[in-house]
Amino acid sequence: MERKDLRVNGKRLRATLEEMAKIGATAGGGVQRLALSDEDKQARDLFIKWLNEIGLEVMIDEMGNIFGKRAGKGKGLSPVMSGSHIDSQPKGGRFDGILGVMGVLEVVRTLNDHGIETERPITIVDWTNEEGTRFSPAMAGSGVWTAKLDRDWVYGRADIHGKTFGQELERIGYKGKLRAKQWPVHAYYEYHIEQGPVLEREGKLIGAPKGIVCLHWYDIYVEGTANQVGPTPMEGRSDALCAAAEMILKVNELPAKVGGNMVATVGEIHNFPNSRNIIPDRVHFTVDIRSWDDELVTRAWEDLKLDFGTIAARRECPLCIEETWRVGHTPFEERLVKRVLGIAGQLGYSSHYMVSGAGHDASYMSQVAPTAMVFVPSIGGRSHVEVENTKWEDCEAGANVLLHCILQSATET
Ligand code: GLV
Ligand code: MN
Ligand code: MN
Repeated sequence: MERKDLRVNGKRLRATLEEMAKIGATAGGGVQRLALSDEDKQARDLFIKWLNEIGLEVMIDEMGNIFGKRAGKGKGLSPVMSGSHIDSQPKGGRFDGILGVMGVLEVVRTLNDHGIETERPITIVDWTNEEGTRFSPAMAGSGVWTAKLDRDWVYGRADIHGKTFGQELERIGYKGKLRAKQWPVHAYYEYHIEQGPVLEREGKLIGAPKGIVCLHWYDIYVEGTANQVGPTPMEGRSDALCAAAEMILKVNELPAKVGGNMVATVGEIHNFPNSRNIIPDRVHFTVDIRSWDDELVTRAWEDLKLDFGTIAARRECPLCIEETWRVGHTPFEERLVKRVLGIAGQLGYSSHYMVSGAGHDASYMSQVAPTAMVFVPSIGGRSHVEVENTKWEDCEAGANVLLHCILQSATET
């Protein structure tokens, strides 16, 4: 068979994804595999079993990032790397992240089936804690590996029960000995579901993002004065939840106010003591702002902080703001993006040049290696939800594009 006619085994890819989806399966048809949870460990164990079965050299670093290396023919050549993440959102979907890890696993299985050797090594990767939902920030494993985040700072990040990343990494037995430190990578490809409505709306099968929007994460802490709700008059109250409610609406109104292509969201809120007959004295909520235009987001944030300050002063609710995490917008390597589009065309798939509104480890990776992503449509544009879905034939098509992208890069000397 000529190399150009090579295709992945779509049935095997589906079976692999279905097997994985049993780990942390939720009643609503999704999965819950929070970073460094028992379910994450179970899925990691299965992934490593599959890496061993195809004879890859398995390495685990001090961030719990898992690498599976397939040797190349050439001596001393840097690998082509591909992967994504195994962790999920709470009540998340069966495709986010895991498609990219199982997709490249299927690529390597296909190369093995056909006895194809490549010049360069191929390294499969599962990055730890991409989601950032249990431990913020997101993309923690790739962030430390690429020296954009400090390892010990990430180790100290706590979940809502006070358990730290470092403790949980050790508990599940995935704190490896290898330093989490980048090595030269010839090209990085990340295969992922789109997680938005664009491909479906455009009627296109393969998405080739030109890059990823910037992500800003903030944590806001508002203080009030607790009191018995009955006898305490409305006048003169310092109600932390009411102050937070006003602030949250300001976040929602921000994109319309500043214009440009921006989204802003409050997704997490904790109210204390959270009793129906106590005036709340503490609220913690998160803010997520994204755009292709970093400066717009920075200016908008400065604006928003002023609004927060005004609300806090009027309601006599002191405010504490943590600027938790910022990643600039990330343009990918044009040559590789064009390759994704070109290969999609050669395989007879329609394609679309676009922007990724979701964050991915490819964001950090593109700062240290030529990087591109392959997207396939999300049905109804839904993701981070249990009903997240992508057609099996689309999963197969994306894996075929990934296969040929990796083959081309792994042939370059
Ligand atoms: C990652 O899942 C993100 O927040 O986009
Ligand atoms: Mn993802
Ligand atoms: Mn996600």
